[in-house]
Amino acid sequence: MKEKSKHQVDMPANRETVAKNPLTVCVTGGAGFIGSAVIRQLINETNHRVVNFDKLTYAACLKSVGSASKSDRYVFVQGDVAESRDVELMYEAHKPDIIMHLAAESHVDRSIDGPGLFLHTNVHGTYTMLQGALKHYRGLSAVDRERFVFLHVSTDEIYGSLGETGLFTEDSQVCPSSPYSASKASADHLVRAWTHTYGLPTVTTNCSNNYGPCQFPEKLIPLMVLRGLAGEPLPVYGSGLQVRDWLHVEDHARALWLVATTGAIGRDYLIGGSSERTNLQVVHGICDALDERFPQRAPHASLIEHVKDRPGHDHRYAIDASRIESELGWRATHTFEEGLSDTIDWYLKNESWWRPLQERYEGQRLGADSKAAK
Ligand code: NAD
Ligand code: TYD
Repeated sequence: MKEKSKHQVDMPANRETVAKNPLTVCVTGGAGFIGSAVIRQLINETNHRVVNFDKLTYAACLKSVGSASKSDRYVFVQGDVAESRDVELMYEAHKPDIIMHLAAESHVDRSIDGPGLFLHTNVHGTYTMLQGALKHYRGLSAVDRERFVFLHVSTDEIYGSLGETGLFTEDSQVCPSSPYSASKASADHLVRAWTHTYGLPTVTTNCSNNYGPCQFPEKLIPLMVLRGLAGEPLPVYGSGLQVRDWLHVEDHARALWLVATTGAIGRDYLIGGSSERTNLQVVHGICDALDERFPQRAPHASLIEHVKDRPGHDHRYAIDASRIESELGWRATHTFEEGLSDTIDWYLKNESWWRPLQERYEGQRLGADSKAAK
């Protein structure tokens, strides 16, 4: 283990230290926002090997893996989680001890415009990964089976919307309301069924909204930062009074490794930062930070425009993370204000990261017209 960063928490050792070290960890979707954060942590803070299995869709950026990609413990495999041949080849060639399944279509607005791809990647892709895992698992020795786990990375959006009060817990009713969350909920059910029926060792996490470096510029926080920087209108859907519970991506990545190594088989863990903010609060926070950095262009809040609401927009998400905190000892370590400020500075310093991505997404409104679904 290398030196711990100030945000690192102590992790009880379990699968990580059983018999074999280093382990081989396959991260699907490792060229995406959260997957790349997981890979950076694994390469920089452990001695494990990482297989980044990613199709490289519009949302991918291999640069996000950063210097970790130069490690001889890192390998990139381009492949599709929904293609059984790609999946089988990956399992056969790399024989992973741990699967961290993050690959997905992840943007609610795009799921409104084109739900079919979400069903293909998120549902059929998870099914294909599970089938590959089962075949691989059945071929392992008894000792290797002890260590194997399939971590399925999901979202709190499977529970639908909360009212003004209350928190999601692992016992909340699954009640998804967007094509994205319905596809993720379907995948969660498949994962549970593969454990229950076939005995495949799985764990599932359901996390709240993430923010931090390397998030694709179509999501709320990077979109507002980059549009604010360019002096363009800041499109707030509807009233802007919808609430999200924000978590820094590094806190999420750490939680995922903790669950992968110490989570109980067949168990779900909710992950959240206890940082509820309305969308308007978030956008005003970004505007205030831009005012401080570029006072000559203040007030950036004058760029805020209320636009047509998202169809079926969930009002509020908020997480009770007491299970992962009490059972596994996880804590979020970034405050939202500190994390947001650092994230804005990251985008200001990393134009070479986000500028090329704007060729794939130029900032146009997505998901506004539910009749357009393909
Ligand atoms: P992202 O869109 O930034 O990245 C997704 C990655 O998956 C991309 O690199 C893409 O190329 C890859 N991918 C897509 N389809 C693929 C396929 N068929 N085969 C292989 N690779 C494929 O997503 P993200 O925000 O990093 O989210 C990662 C996971 O975490 C998703 O499963 C998402 O549902 C979940 N999640 C995200 C959040 C959030 O706030 N971003 C919160 C909770 C859970
Ligand atoms: P998003 O980042 O798309 O995450 P999710 O829909 O998965 O929660 O959006 C976060 C919130 O911000 C959500 O309530 C929709 C809202 N939003 C806007 O108001 N304007 C925008 O341009 C975007 C992209 C999102």
